[in-house]
Amino acid sequence: MAKVNVMFVCLGNICRSPLAEFVLKQKLEKAGLQDEVYVESCGTANYHVGENPDPRTISVARKNGITINHKGQQLKRQHFDIFDILLVMDDSNKTNALKIAGDATEFELYKMRDFDDVEKGADVIDPWFGDGKGFDICYDTLDRCCNNLITFLSDHDKMLK
Ligand code: 4NP
Repeated sequence: MAKVNVMFVCLGNICRSPLAEFVLKQKLEKAGLQDEVYVESCGTANYHVGENPDPRTISVARKNGITINHKGQQLKRQHFDIFDILLVMDDSNKTNALKIAGDATEFELYKMRDFDDVEKGADVIDPWFGDGKGFDICYDTLDRCCNNLITFLSDHDKMLK
């Protein structure tokens, strides 16, 4: 069983969070930590439950050597009992996720860009609304954050032997 369970959260679970999930998974494999950290992603909304990610998400991942295989799911109260760390993309995800959390207390919630070296704590801009360029920017942002996130996860209490 993995030591730390990580859930990425965005709005629709077809752009930012599935991209983050598979960027992190690839980095965990490269670091030999794939059995230590379990990763999923979800949306706070139910708009795209059961759907594949946006084709532009799949394409930007593929361009960077990452294969995405995912079906949309919505964040539920039960996830807070399973996942130790939730990583939201923006402030509105945070507000929505905390509403869904209800009485749950045993979790840590961060903004993804708390782990960024550039504009620390900013939102990961939703690329869904813009042109394709937003997906390249989104990928670069998530890639940077995941590098620092791996260090954070390696040092996390639950990873201590
Ligand atoms: P995501 O982007 O939250 O990064 O997956 C969105 C995808 C779809 C919608 C909104 C945001 N939507 O309104 O359908």
